[in-house]
Amino acid sequence: MADEKINKGHSENYFGDYRDFWWNRAFLDLTAKRLDLERHQSMLDVGSGHGHWTRILAPYLAPGAEITAIDSDEKWYKENPDLQAYFQKSGNLFQLKKGDAQDLPFEDNSFDLVTCQTVLIHVPRPAKAIQEMKRVLKPGGTLLCVEPNNIVQSLIKTSLTKNDPIEETLDHIKYRLIIEKGKKAMGRGDNSLGDLLPGMFAMEGLNNIEVRLSDKAIAMYPPYDNEEQLATLKQWMKGSSWKSNTQKDIDFFHAAGEKYMPFYFEYQEKYARSDEHVMGALQREQYHAAGGSLMYLVSGSK
Ligand SMILES: C[S@@+](CC[C@H](N)C(=O)[O-])C[C@H]1O[C@@H](n2cnc3c(N)ncnc32)[C@H](O)[C@@H]1O
Repeated sequence: MADEKINKGHSENYFGDYRDFWWNRAFLDLTAKRLDLERHQSMLDVGSGHGHWTRILAPYLAPGAEITAIDSDEKWYKENPDLQAYFQKSGNLFQLKKGDAQDLPFEDNSFDLVTCQTVLIHVPRPAKAIQEMKRVLKPGGTLLCVEPNNIVQSLIKTSLTKNDPIEETLDHIKYRLIIEKGKKAMGRGDNSLGDLLPGMFAMEGLNNIEVRLSDKAIAMYPPYDNEEQLATLKQWMKGSSWKSNTQKDIDFFHAAGEKYMPFYFEYQEKYARSDEHVMGALQREQYHAAGGSLMYLVSGSK
């Protein structure tokens, strides 16, 4: 059964998109109420990518609100027909533009709501991005940033890791910490920036700071047949969750410091088959995990 699903994963049409399942609807409703999103007539989504977050928030704003999305990657600001088509039907005025979070191409005091989701973790100067987002926010407007701590993933137990020796868990944490250090050293951001966001908001002079955690967990358990589990399987097959992308990891290790390279090779040798173990356990329907994560929602007003 799982085997069939995993093989069908090669057809893009079989699965939904992983990010479509990142939020519980009731939690979004509550967030919209808490932040009184319906009074906002305009929104800027920074680093909008495919537009998952843009589409999620737009219906909570005032009817016909003006939506602006920007991204620094031309893959997203030039070729995003899905997002354009979505907003053509929605009744919102919509524009998609090129823009860098650290140097926003907008006048001061332009938007009622400025937001981003999993963007500041990729930005070399996140404090500058927060300063820019505040600058383009209207007085009284809301800044809402959604960013994770990703290092906790190394501590989440699964049916495969539940009896791991302490040393193995420490190896996984050490590996991820070195990757995070290298990523930062390369100016590619900080994977666990979410922990620091409230303080950064305070230092930027934002008011009414509120900090919450998403209540979503994507639990995996046999027979893995609900939509979010199928989308998660697809994401795993693309290799972004538990598979290591060897060249990228080597670059991060070099950037973290040459002294870490022996650990890279030891780790790769010791855990060379862990991807196969996960895939095998999924196929035998023996893999399960509650799928917890740490995703912060930090809001403040100007
Ligand atoms: C992980 S994706 C998140 C996309 C979208 N916010 C979502 O949640 O689905 C990160 C996005 O941030 C964009 N990005 C990275 N650095 C950026 C920067 N300095 N300015 C604007 N966008 C940036 C990337 O191109 C990418 O689309």
